[in-house]
Amino acid sequence: MTGISTDKRDTLLAMITEEQRTLGFVSKSSMFSMAQWLGIPVAEVYGVVTFHTFFSVKPQGKHVVRSCKSVPCHLKRSEMVASWIGDYLGVNAGETTPDGRFSFELTNCIGACDQSPAMLVDDVLYGDLNQERVAKILKSFD
Ligand code: FES
Repeated sequence: MTGISTDKRDTLLAMITEEQRTLGFVSKSSMFSMAQWLGIPVAEVYGVVTFHTFFSVKPQGKHVVRSCKSVPCHLKRSEMVASWIGDYLGVNAGETTPDGRFSFELTNCIGACDQSPAMLVDDVLYGDLNQERVAKILKSFD
């Protein structure tokens, strides 16, 4: 983020975080309102929302599954984890199940490299994943 003050940047991040926490996504109208309130271009707001993998510009499912795609997990075959998640849920990364129960996202490092491959379901971290464990974890949310 460039061209805006640290105070405005901090305020923007707080506003986006609250919107994401409250609604589960950051709507286009909210981005316009934030930009107007802070006196910054809406492109700046959009850039922040889309840069951070934990913010979304579209409504998400009741549970959000985030599979790590960064190098340490990749070296432990995280692409297989993503495949198992996708197969179990019946959606691709970036999609939400038709019943709205799960959204599936790929994400950068979630701070569990020592347990790679790893994923988050909502705010809960799961590591040392294999196909059986992924299925068991996701089934526990059914
Ligand atoms: S690279 Fe996957 S948790 Fe760090």
